Amino acid sequence: MPLFGKDLGIDLGTVNTLVCEGSEVVLHEPTIVAIDIEELKIVDVGQSAREMDGRVPEVIEVSRPLRDGVIADFEVTHRMLGHFIEKVCGPARLFKPRLMITIPLGVTSVESRAVHEAALQAGGREVYLIQEPLAAAIGVGLPIATPSGNLVVNLGGGVTQAAVIAMGGIVAGDATRTGGLKLDEAIISYVRKKYGLIIGPRTAEEAKIRIGSAIAPDEESTIEIQGQDQVTGLPRPITLTTSEIVEALQETLHLQLVAVRSVLEHTPPELASDIIDRGMLICGGGSMLRGIDKWLTSETGVPAYVAEEPVACASKGAARGLGMLERILRMLPEV
Ligand SMILES: Nc1ncnc2c1ncn2[C@@H]1O[C@H](COP(=O)(O)OP(=O)(O)O)[C@@H](O)[C@H]1O
Ligand SMILES: [Mg+2]
Repeated sequence: MPLFGKDLGIDLGTVNTLVCEGSEVVLHEPTIVAIDIEELKIVDVGQSAREMDGRVPEVIEVSRPLRDGVIADFEVTHRMLGHFIEKVCGPARLFKPRLMITIPLGVTSVESRAVHEAALQAGGREVYLIQEPLAAAIGVGLPIATPSGNLVVNLGGGVTQAAVIAMGGIVAGDATRTGGLKLDEAIISYVRKKYGLIIGPRTAEEAKIRIGSAIAPDEESTIEIQGQDQVTGLPRPITLTTSEIVEALQETLHLQLVAVRSVLEHTPPELASDIIDRGMLICGGGSMLRGIDKWLTSETGVPAYVAEEPVACASKGAARGLGMLERILRMLPEV
């Protein structure tokens, strides 16, 4: 038990922020804020801010303070984090928490320092950063300290990361700044081109989650969606099929694959054989896309399997990381 306040693991993602204490997820909210742009103050954060989108007066702007995995708006991010931490710890500022917070692979030192600083300003007493795939590996309990390699692929909303972990650290890693949000955009542009219909990002995401797939489906599902006719401006429904979503997603999925391929290419041969034996662990919200494991397996020749708690594992690993600091400290990014 920490003497001076809680130990929290935080997965600060482009789409979702999770806070974990011990092995318990204590907060899971969209990384979204609603700001009153006249008074320049935060009206709400997380799920309730998301629900305001499109339903509130124009002076309230609903936005994501992170883009492609990195902080796009520092001021807003540290305030949002402050709100989240307060939700978990209560308003008392006497016992500040120790935080371990995830950053994506491949970010610049300026970008990671911004996360460190935001977490300090949000109320962290001590703040450690950890690369998201390493946190995910710890979260699922992979044997990270052994000399044999483990490949972890995190398919997030903003970034796709792939890392080979051995001897407690990242031996090879790469990331591409594309992910679930780009998959939604791909559906939007597919529907616009094929049907002359404009749909919003939430509709596109819903279609992806409900009937989407990375590979041709055994059984076709359909979803009826509403959009706005590009020419008349009038609302119009269409029915989309799983096969259409598969087609819409292919190009973006191949962009995500670039990170995985590049890591496999840069993996030392001794570790490559471990990886082929053990397979790749996939996590992040994108790992829940139907057929993504089969698709990755067929594209890379390395068997892919989905983590048990694909969205929570990085925050759980970050929390657990605080309990094994002395063992992993030398592997964590410096700030
Ligand atoms: N069942 C699903 N099928 C496909 N994509 C999904 C599913 N569930 C969630 N996602 C996608 O996962 C992404 C969020 O994943 P997450 O790991 O939380 O992202 P981040 O770490 O960037 O915040 C979103 O783009 C969301 O659409
Ligand atoms: Mg994430």
